Amino acid sequence: MLKAVIFDLDGILVDTSIFHGRAWRKLVEDLGHQPPADLEERVKGISRMASLKIALGDNARRYTDTELADLAEKKNQVYLSLTRTISPADLYDGVRELFDGLRSAGIKIVLGSASKNAKPILDSLGIASYFDAIADGFAYTHGKPHADVFVTGARMVGADPAECVVVEDAAAGITAALDGGFVAVGMGSHASLKHAHLFVKSLRELSAQRLTDLHARFRSDRWTVVREGIHPSREASLQTIFSIGNGLLGIRGHLSALPLGKSWGAYMAGVFDRIRRPDPNPDAWGPFMQYWGDASLARGEQIEVCILPLPNFLDVRLFLNGQRVDFTQGVVKSFTRRLDLRSGLFTVEALWQSPDGKELRLVERRLADWTDTRRVFVQYELEAMNFSGPVEIDAGIDTAVVFNMDNIPQTPFEVTARYGAGQACMVEVRGKSDGMTVALGSRLTVHDRPETDYNILVEPEALYVHAQADLRQGQLLYVERVVVATSSRGCADPLACVRACLPEAAKLTLGQARIDSTALLHQLWTNSDVLIEGPASDQLAMRFSVFNMLMAASRDDDGVSLGAKGLTGELYRGMVFWDTDLFMMPVLSFTQPAMARNLAMFRVKGLPGARAKARRFGWRGACFPWETAAGDENTEKWLRLLTHQLHVSADVAYALQQYVDASGDMDFYVRHGAELLLDTALFWLSKLEKGENGKWFVPQAGGPDEYHVVCDASAYIHHMAAWNLRAAARAAAYLREHSPEQLSAVLSRIGMTREEAASLEATAAEIDPLRRDDGVLEQCRGFFALREEAADPKKFYPDMQCTQVVKQADVVMLMYLLADQFDDRTVRANFEFYEPRTQHASSLSHGVHGLVAARLGLHEKAGNYMRRSMGMDLHDEMDNAAWGIHMAASGMNYVAVTQGYGGTRFTDGKLHVNPHLPAHWQGLTFRTFAGGALAEVSVSGNGTVSVSNLPVSKAKLTIVLAGKEFTLQPGETRSA
Ligand code: BG6
Ligand code: MG
Repeated sequence: MLKAVIFDLDGILVDTSIFHGRAWRKLVEDLGHQPPADLEERVKGISRMASLKIALGDNARRYTDTELADLAEKKNQVYLSLTRTISPADLYDGVRELFDGLRSAGIKIVLGSASKNAKPILDSLGIASYFDAIADGFAYTHGKPHADVFVTGARMVGADPAECVVVEDAAAGITAALDGGFVAVGMGSHASLKHAHLFVKSLRELSAQRLTDLHARFRSDRWTVVREGIHPSREASLQTIFSIGNGLLGIRGHLSALPLGKSWGAYMAGVFDRIRRPDPNPDAWGPFMQYWGDASLARGEQIEVCILPLPNFLDVRLFLNGQRVDFTQGVVKSFTRRLDLRSGLFTVEALWQSPDGKELRLVERRLADWTDTRRVFVQYELEAMNFSGPVEIDAGIDTAVVFNMDNIPQTPFEVTARYGAGQACMVEVRGKSDGMTVALGSRLTVHDRPETDYNILVEPEALYVHAQADLRQGQLLYVERVVVATSSRGCADPLACVRACLPEAAKLTLGQARIDSTALLHQLWTNSDVLIEGPASDQLAMRFSVFNMLMAASRDDDGVSLGAKGLTGELYRGMVFWDTDLFMMPVLSFTQPAMARNLAMFRVKGLPGARAKARRFGWRGACFPWETAAGDENTEKWLRLLTHQLHVSADVAYALQQYVDASGDMDFYVRHGAELLLDTALFWLSKLEKGENGKWFVPQAGGPDEYHVVCDASAYIHHMAAWNLRAAARAAAYLREHSPEQLSAVLSRIGMTREEAASLEATAAEIDPLRRDDGVLEQCRGFFALREEAADPKKFYPDMQCTQVVKQADVVMLMYLLADQFDDRTVRANFEFYEPRTQHASSLSHGVHGLVAARLGLHEKAGNYMRRSMGMDLHDEMDNAAWGIHMAASGMNYVAVTQGYGGTRFTDGKLHVNPHLPAHWQGLTFRTFAGGALAEVSVSGNGTVSVSNLPVSKAKLTIVLAGKEFTLQPGETRSA
């Protein structure tokens, strides 16, 4: 609930900011100096003394502290004479109406101003009596952009920052509000306030209702992941959920300023190398591996592609009076981590007492820049609580990094260059096998201390910039750091690129980079946000899931895809599996078509590799890899998954068609998509064999369930392959009509005859559906005859392939993917048959079950599955979040909420909406692309549904709502 609105004074209630600007300018000019051109903007929200330093610039050094105090007083006299005539008539338009509205809504009104003249000005304006509390320049310790003023104001009326909105005209004020966890409204110059939650030109645009709605949408407890305390046993999973990234870089939420051991992990999209692994030793294989692996192929050294762990480019050491700041020593009095999903900012705030009693408050803020993805900004905020003395900072790059997985103690790279001078150090490393090069540069600046000396420290495996500064009790010290990271994927000479970019990047601070990143992310959230009116934990988990996709997917590179762990860990060696296409890509296909197109292009570019795999095993067409780094097959040659997990080809085709259907990108369809659909169809044609019953079947290929991989005639494969053939037939028909020359070119390129192309539909119809009379599909031939056992999630089934225990959604996947092909009775029959047999030993299982259960109206089951899926990482549901984000579960959370609970399904060019909201949600709103139109779907707890074709849409939208069909032009809405 919105408890209080905190208003800045100058520039928000009255136009005194011009008087401040004028008074400073006069003072500086009278002294014979040149004031900075943007003086007026820069002093907004800034305390009197800090403003003076801005106004004087370098000239400030010429004056003693007493002289500076006199000058500030002199400016204030000028300012007061300018404001003497202020009267109620000067009050900005809309203030009284807004205040009256807030009052009658029972929302407290608070002042949060840097000004020490606030009270008399409120009196002159005649509005002092409205205020429930006044936090002015006398009330708090640290000025804006520190959050102190607003936190103080909130406390004065007994509110938590998450319960307040701040209205501000200064960039520093918006930063302070966001840092403090407030919802922020900006008013004034949009260029400097674009990181606010809302921008208005006048207070007349605000009302108690609008602020209440805004607050409901953006209150920080629904956008910020927060964890208190240090928990050694859970550190690794916490470091996973506090990962940051920007589509190029991924950095685990390790604690750089807090040496708790080796916890570093950072990766760059598309930067891989090959590692040598010892003999996998089949003699030691347990039952699972004996089933999944072919021992006869497993002898000898293995070479595997693996994402390259980067050197620790955020390494930091702090010393107080020569004593290392080490949180394993002394007392950690408080410790909070936050990840703000609106800006991508990760913050650690700690209050630490050293063994000899010094109390230090340390805040580390960390941002992977979203506007220039090669950059990472870090800011350390230090406050000496009970002492004064020197602090030393070593900020550098540590190359003592090993592969973090499978206990392979291998150094992943060799160091090819190290270089340090002045405030910067640089390192270049090269992958040992494939020679991909990564260059990193780090630059350190002690803020506001131009006199600081910087030295380079060279250690055997690390290089640091060393700086020393004085900490004075009660004063804040800010240390800024910027890192630039590039690779030979991004430029020919990465080191030269870093050298060129670093000085430019160092002109920015974290605060500025955060403004731009927030603005960029805001654009993404506009279409990708899923608004849940219900428990904050559900809302946060939903946003966290979407954020994981946004921060891992590239916005400009179609040569990379999304690994099973995104860029948050080394498990699965950074590889891309079928989860990317069916679980992760939908978030982007439905909300960020440009990013989805990159993922689709990654698969299109993988066609040569998919063809090569098919040839390798004597098949035709395109057989997509089970796991891949850059598009080609990278599965170990002894893993049966290589030869038997063939469903990935149909999954890739399905996801690509889904992208086309959502975006309406027919250009892509004609130029690239149709070829992939036809080539994967050709693969299935080459795999099909005639069974004894006269139907086609696919031998030796299993569906998603990894407990039954080696089997004939999998229902999943059959239904998806049939779907693939039909999609290819449609593609051929489309090309025939719109681009016949492209059809000829594609058919001859992939080697499909005209007769084959003409037979696709008929062949699909003849594939064995493996369907029993009661509608239940047999997961694979002979499945019903296997031993029946109840699935116990904790049990180990050494002979799982001989049982009916299923690892994860398999047939149930079909009930979701091909929903139109099965009536409700069939879906229910299959769900009821397979659900009790499913162990959910994969994080890919819960969300799919949640989705299907929701569509069936099985609310309790849906709720249970969704709780687990939504908590997969945030609550470490499967005790393995330590290894990285479960990207597939994250993606499926989005699908299950929008398609299961939201009940949307885009099929045959129509958006069907048939919601099943959980009882404890009062509303659900989201956007989805459908046939090139951008729809907004809003479902309320009382069952009302409204669907809009948003005005920005480029196409009309056909919807089916409560059984009736409507066509909406852009800007039109229908409710039922
Ligand atoms: C802020 C103004 O509200 O108050 C600043 O935006 C000003 O420009 C600051 O410096 C301090 O004001 P005063 O009245 O205490 O000098
Ligand atoms: Mg102001």
